[in-house]
Amino acid sequence: MTRKGPGPIPGGYVLWFGWKFVIVLSMVLCVVALFQLHFHDDIASPNSLSFAGTGSRIFEDNFDGNPKIAFLFLVRQDLPLDFLWGNFFENADIGSFSIYIHSEPGFVFDESTSRSHSFYDRQLTNSIEVAWGESSMIEAERLLLGAALKDPENQRFVLLSDSCVPLYNFSYIYKYLMASQRSFVDSFLNVKGSRYSPKMSPVIQKDKWRKGSQWISLVRSHAQVVVDDEIVFPVFKKLCKVHDQPFYVFSSIKS
Ligand SMILES: *[C@@H]1O[C@H](CO)[C@@H](O)[C@H](O)[C@H]1NC(C)=O
Repeated sequence: MTRKGPGPIPGGYVLWFGWKFVIVLSMVLCVVALFQLHFHDDIASPNSLSFAGTGSRIFEDNFDGNPKIAFLFLVRQDLPLDFLWGNFFENADIGSFSIYIHSEPGFVFDESTSRSHSFYDRQLTNSIEVAWGESSMIEAERLLLGAALKDPENQRFVLLSDSCVPLYNFSYIYKYLMASQRSFVDSFLNVKGSRYSPKMSPVIQKDKWRKGSQWISLVRSHAQVVVDDEIVFPVFKKLCKVHDQPFYVFSSIKS
C-alpha cells in the first residue's frame, strides 16, 4: 500500500498546463516491495518502521539550521514561466529555499536567458542529454536530487517541470510542505492497460506496479532513497525506451 500524505495540496499547488509536450511526460512507479528490500534494516527495527509518519527520519540527526525547500526544475532549455517564479521567489525569505535546474548540457541561465535573477547560475554543471520519455529523465531527476541533498538545509525536495507554476505564495507553500512530514506522490492503479513489462519481474512485481505523475515532493529520507537506488533504476534503464511512457521509479512509503 502506498500513502499520499494527509491529502492533496488544496487545489494543487501547481497548475498543469495542458500543453501537449508536458501532458504525457510522466509516471510514477511505486514499488513497496523494493522499498522494503532497500530498507530492510530499517524495517526490521520497529522504531523506524513508520518513519514516514513520525518524523523521526525527516530531519538529519546533525541538521541544525533553517530548513529549506529545494525547488528542482527539470527543463528542456530555458524556463518560459520564469517571470512567475521570479515573483514567487522575490517574496520569499532567501534562506528558506534553494533552486536547482537541470537543463540541456551547456545551457546557461543568465541575463540573456532568464528574466529572473533567481535562476542565474542555478543549472547543474553535470547535466545530461534527456530524451523525454526515457530513463534519462529519471537520471536527470536523480542528479537534481543528488545535488540538492548536498545541502543539509534542504529538507523538502520539489520536482517541477518547465510548465509548472505556483498557485500559492511562497509562505503558504513553505508552511504546507514543512508542516507535513510526508512525501507527496501520485500513485494509482492503471486499470486501462498496463505498461508493465513482464521482463521487469522479479525486481518489480506486477502487483506493485503503479502509475502517477513524476512531479512530486519528497522529504529528505525519500530523496535519499531515490538517489541511492541501485535496484529498480537499472531495470528502467534497460526497459524504458522511446515510445514507452516514462516511468519514474519512486520507492514508496511503507504503510
Ligand atoms: C499567502 O497566501 C495565503 C493564502 O492564500 C494568505 O493568507 C497570506 O496572507 C499570503 N501571504 C502573503 C505574505 O502574501
